[in-house]
Amino acid sequence: MAAQKKLIIGNWKMNLNVHDASVYLHKLDVEIQGHRDVEVVVAPTALALQPLSLQINRHKMKLAAQNFYWRDFGAFTGEVAATQLRGLVKYALVGHSERRHVFGETVKDTREKVHAALRNQFTPVLCIGETQSERTSGETKDILHDQLVGGLANVTSEEIDNIVIAYEPVWAIGTGNNASPHDVADAVLAIRSQIRHLYGKEKAASVRVLYGGSVTADSASDYLHVNGVDGLLIGGASLKLHEFGSIIKKAHNITQ
Ligand code: 13P
Repeated sequence: MAAQKKLIIGNWKMNLNVHDASVYLHKLDVEIQGHRDVEVVVAPTALALQPLSLQINRHKMKLAAQNFYWRDFGAFTGEVAATQLRGLVKYALVGHSERRHVFGETVKDTREKVHAALRNQFTPVLCIGETQSERTSGETKDILHDQLVGGLANVTSEEIDNIVIAYEPVWAIGTGNNASPHDVADAVLAIRSQIRHLYGKEKAASVRVLYGGSVTADSASDYLHVNGVDGLLIGGASLKLHEFGSIIKKAHNITQ
């Protein structure tokens, strides 16, 4: 399947203020010297995107937004538009489980956001995954199907090249209860087979698919070795400089 640079995204969620984010990024830059064969991305608080975009060495790292609103402008108090992120970020998370389950983001919202990101020339990272009860009742594949088909509606076969899919089982996020590599392999296979159904064999092989959910420096290599996994979406472990650095080094070693 896809033989590309591994993509490692650190999702800092609602942590680190602008100053601390800047200091962290300086240190990360030193920590990962010489790992240009890994695509390293951080998703800080929206407040930090502008200053970090001036600080960041874009040859070494990229920025992602954790969230945005899909309308271009208007009376939407408290929201950040995709148009306002244009030029600042290379990626943006869409449909993260915390957006879906804490803030009630719908499949329609994820679809609108996917299109808004593409219109504004950054790559949506469409996050999909089942809850524990959906898994227990054997619905995992149906949930992945619905979130994928719903989020990708009206996406063309050229546009799919510029979309990343992240499999993040809700029960594995922030719980320390990570999915087994076998579970991940099954889910990634289901995702790629759905992409094949929608866009054909070639796109099914080339679309980038990540795993996220309680990944640590100890478990990173196991997931990176799963057939069809192109990278990782890291929450808690991305806030620990040496641990995140070590995950990036593992991705580097695998690429060698
Ligand atoms: P954890 O790595 O903390 O489980 O979070 C995963 C995640 O939600 C990344 O977006």
